Amino acid sequence: MKKLSTVFVLILLLKITTVMAQENKARILVLIHSDNGGTYELAKEIASGIESGKNATAIIKQVKEAQNPKLKNIPIASVDELPSYDGIAFGSPVYFGNISTGMSEFLSKTVNLWTNHALEGMPATVFMSAGSGAGKELALNAFWNSLAVHGMVLVSNGIRGNETVNKSIPQGNTVLGITSMASLKDVERPTKDERGLAELQGRNFAKTALTLKGTFTKKQVIAANSEQSRDINELLKQKNIILPQVPQPAGNYKPYVRSGNLVFINQVALKDGKILNPGKLGVNVNENHVKEATKVTMLNVIAVLKEAVGGDLNKVKQCVQLTGIFNTKDDYTQHADLMNVASDLTVDIFGEKGKHARATLGASSIPVNSPVEIQAVFEVE
Ligand SMILES: Cc1cc2nc3c(=O)[nH]c(=O)nc-3n(C[C@H](O)[C@H](O)[C@H](O)COP(=O)(O)O)c2cc1C
Repeated sequence: MKKLSTVFVLILLLKITTVMAQENKARILVLIHSDNGGTYELAKEIASGIESGKNATAIIKQVKEAQNPKLKNIPIASVDELPSYDGIAFGSPVYFGNISTGMSEFLSKTVNLWTNHALEGMPATVFMSAGSGAGKELALNAFWNSLAVHGMVLVSNGIRGNETVNKSIPQGNTVLGITSMASLKDVERPTKDERGLAELQGRNFAKTALTLKGTFTKKQVIAANSEQSRDINELLKQKNIILPQVPQPAGNYKPYVRSGNLVFINQVALKDGKILNPGKLGVNVNENHVKEATKVTMLNVIAVLKEAVGGDLNKVKQCVQLTGIFNTKDDYTQHADLMNVASDLTVDIFGEKGKHARATLGASSIPVNSPVEIQAVFEVE
């Protein structure tokens, strides 16, 4: 018994020590945009350098979903999470002597972080994948310009590690950060030396991040920022919300009508061409069936809405009103509970813009025996 409790105490101590060690580690985001994977190759080296000293953790994320299968499984970063790290290594392709459009779009969503001083004092370092290398220093400089505006502490490479670089071929070493020149094919890119310098950059950056850890306030810029930076199309992907095909009208009407800035939509619980859980609540379907059907109906509404805004749900300004009509018996009173499924989904997707006026009512029958019908009014750009 005594032996058992000693083992238990030892395990507990080990666990506490492990948790404390984790907490003392610097958490560093390696945030990339990459089209063809060149930036990602450098990112992996940077990350391995960051983790080499065992006192920092590297998390590789990308600024948006990539089409390239090599990059498909890299998680997408949100703007809101940036202030939670101890440092950020930014990587991007060189586009016309500048940062890439994808990285630029992401940074343009950080206005609220900027005005709230949320990244001030946090260390940053940059790396880039170029083609021929034309304008690579200009591009790195452009990266620094944006990050300097945020008040980040910019960590350069200087000539660190250059002594051992093979100088008989063009290499992507620069004083601001490592680059690689993907279109120079005489050797595989990134070259062995470019990879080595990227690793060194990561290692040095981790040291700086660890030293500065705790010296700047990790501000949580909430609500307003997340509202402004919320990219609804990306958010649907992150939350794995898959919109169905737009149901086709069964008569002489349209899936939606736009009048001025308002879009009017009515949908029932059609899923894959059939009504999901058809029937009357309390007779042949229960509340869970109706809630399931309500979610499907609201997804149909949002699919139609997406068509109405030309595929870009960021153009939705406000969900103005939702009306839920449920196929119920005369004495049923819990309609609001059923409709919450649609309301919660709308707020989950659109945030503040998803908050709406609402009506719910029961009906003795609903077309095609759907358990629910939703009428929706949205204001759009
Ligand atoms: C729009 C555009 C502009 C580019 N401009 C430059 C440039 O100015 N200099 C350069 O060396 N490469 C340039 N490139 C090439 C990319 O930087 C290069 O293909 C890079 O390796 C891509 O990185 P990735 O593999 O991470 O997508 C450009 C590519 C595109 C698509």
